[in-house]
Amino acid sequence: MAVRWGVLGAARIARQAVIPAIQAAGGVVEVLGSRSLERGLETARALGVAEVVEGYQGVLDRDLDCVYIPLPNSLHKRWVLEALRRGRHVLCEKPLALSAVEAVEMDQAARAHQRLLGEAVMYRYHPRWALVHSLIGDGVIGELRQISGNFSFPLEGDDDYRWDPGLGGGALYDVGSYLINAARWIAGREPDLAEAVAAWRGGVDQAASVSLRFPGSGASAPCLAGLACGFAAAEAQWLAIEGTKGGILLDRPFTAWHGEALPISLRVGSGLVQQIPAPPADPYLEMIRAFHRAMDTGEVLLTSAADGAANLAVLDACRLSLAQPGARPLAVRQRLSGRLDPASSA
Ligand SMILES: NC(=O)c1ccc[n+]([C@@H]2O[C@H](COP(=O)([O-])OP(=O)(O)OC[C@H]3O[C@@H](n4cnc5c(N)ncnc54)[C@H](OP(=O)(O)O)[C@@H]3O)[C@@H](O)[C@H]2O)c1
Repeated sequence: MAVRWGVLGAARIARQAVIPAIQAAGGVVEVLGSRSLERGLETARALGVAEVVEGYQGVLDRDLDCVYIPLPNSLHKRWVLEALRRGRHVLCEKPLALSAVEAVEMDQAARAHQRLLGEAVMYRYHPRWALVHSLIGDGVIGELRQISGNFSFPLEGDDDYRWDPGLGGGALYDVGSYLINAARWIAGREPDLAEAVAAWRGGVDQAASVSLRFPGSGASAPCLAGLACGFAAAEAQWLAIEGTKGGILLDRPFTAWHGEALPISLRVGSGLVQQIPAPPADPYLEMIRAFHRAMDTGEVLLTSAADGAANLAVLDACRLSLAQPGARPLAVRQRLSGRLDPASSA
């Protein structure tokens, strides 16, 4: 039987990528909730969704297997908890919440209700990344020493929720979260230091620069990361991974999509850069397939709620370092050692 989905919000990302991916994976989007019936109906007609309801509660009243939540970031926690309480599996957009404390609560709720909660960090499902991990795991570039990256795009218009601090706006949550996610995944461990500087517009960070340190183990040195993100520069998206024997350069590490065969640039020693071909794929489709499998088999998702919480612990530390530079070292260490004290949630 086809997996039955409901969607909360006629969001851009739902329309452009995730609803088509659910359908391509053999799922059915049975109902879409929207604050505006008109917008909901327009989306439903364009994408072949059978039913539209006004608001989001009506979606959760339907008999569904799972719910996809592409709402502004500040609304994730409320609607994830509600959907879990109603017995649905949930795929929620990134970042999973506004803080690690919130995400831990959401993860615990999913466990308590024995439902799956995944974060829609789609890039991890692109097969290009399996190649990157095998190059690193096989020691082709030696021991990791430095990860650098940029994810920027010019955010047009003033009415996007990304400009609104009350809705969880800002570049760190929106695009910085991808860079931090990738650095943690590449390093295969959590950082023990994190800090950020930002340029502000209104109440949000319109650009930010993040430094992370991933501890070494035994005789091996730490790996450092320098990551820049924002809404102020021209479109830029790349990652460079440097090791003791060579490096990997990835163009468009996060949004490579179907139809795009972006190779991986590999440099070993001072040799020439080789272009390693990578297959084109739709990472959204691969993500939905993985979600369907995990619902069936209990397989742990690459983008579990626990991983989303760990990513938010780093984002918390970065945001705290912006807000309270004087208090930074201790607060950052507390966050990163996993002692997430709700009373000190920032
Ligand atoms: N994984 C990815 O590739 C990817 C890419 C882009 C964005 N995202 C994530 O997806 C989420 C949505 O991003 P988006 O770019 O698709 O945003 P968007 O187009 O602005 O969609 C957000 C939707 O949330 C609903 N909403 C409810 N309350 C709202 C409020 N107060 N203000 C604005 N919208 C409100 C609206 O739906 P109705 O009016 O129909 O109810 C709106 O269409 C974010 O968490 C973002 O980080 C993920």
